[in-house]
Amino acid sequence: MTLSDDILKLKKEKKAIILAHNYQRPEIQDIADYVGDSIELSRRAMEEKDARIILFSAVDFMAENAVILNPDKKVLLPSEGARCPMAQMLTVDELRRWKRKYPKLPVVLYVNTLAEVKAECDICCTSANVIKIVNAVDSDALLFGPDRNLALYAAKHTNKRIIPVPERGFCPTHVLFQKADIDFWKTKYPDAPVIVHPECTPEVQSAADYVGSTSQMCQYAQRLDAKRFIIGTESGLIHRLKKENPNKEFILAYDGAICPNMKLNTMERLYLALKEEKHRVTVPKPIAEKARKALDKMLSV
Ligand code: 13P
Ligand code: SF4
Repeated sequence: MTLSDDILKLKKEKKAIILAHNYQRPEIQDIADYVGDSIELSRRAMEEKDARIILFSAVDFMAENAVILNPDKKVLLPSEGARCPMAQMLTVDELRRWKRKYPKLPVVLYVNTLAEVKAECDICCTSANVIKIVNAVDSDALLFGPDRNLALYAAKHTNKRIIPVPERGFCPTHVLFQKADIDFWKTKYPDAPVIVHPECTPEVQSAADYVGSTSQMCQYAQRLDAKRFIIGTESGLIHRLKKENPNKEFILAYDGAICPNMKLNTMERLYLALKEEKHRVTVPKPIAEKARKALDKMLSV
């Protein structure tokens, strides 16, 4: 029996399902029940009825969303310490300081935030729906956090005045892409469309043909009749892109774009977490109830 057979057997015995983010290692994506971007994973977790355990192969805030949206399930993270560093960049204290400075402005938070911070906002968004959500907010100006690049993307595509909180929140993996990387590959393959994530810098976004969430990037690559694409996001997406488009080539514009936290999850850790039912993710009820309102509002837009 291989390790993947062992995990699948255990999964059945424990009445578990495995949800994996698009950045997970190829072997994890291959055994998952569902692979997706953050909003798809939230919806999938919320709709889960039969399973007793959700083994959430991703990082902390995504697993927290599952707990908030489906509190009856036991949600496990395969690896201890799989935290999104961007989510750590906005604390409750810092957000409250900004709210005191701009008491009239609504607060939109990227789902890449901790539950206790989400509990302080008016509505959440993801990279898949940020423009829609920002447009739906009934105010010309708003506070937005924690990703400055996503805030600038939203400002560019709406008529709103967006104040990034904190001033310089960022994803340490996506800011590794430089415009020079895109220029290099474009010179080599001028016909290759460039697809990037909105956590990349505005310079990189401006050099792209399409900017979207990880699953939207996959949908765009499937739709477009090109034989080669230049990709600007975490390396894990390349596996799904290749699997769904075996006749197309995908070039990661900068091959060091690896999120160490996403990669903390391994097959061995999935197996152990499920076997011992460990690394359970919990959210205190009063926080979960408030954060749920912000997530529900987002899901209803
Ligand atoms: P997606 O929602 O696009 O999958 O993005 C999540 C993320 O963490 C990107 O770095
Ligand atoms: Fe967080 Fe960036 Fe990793 Fe996404 S890729 S989980 S935003 S650090």
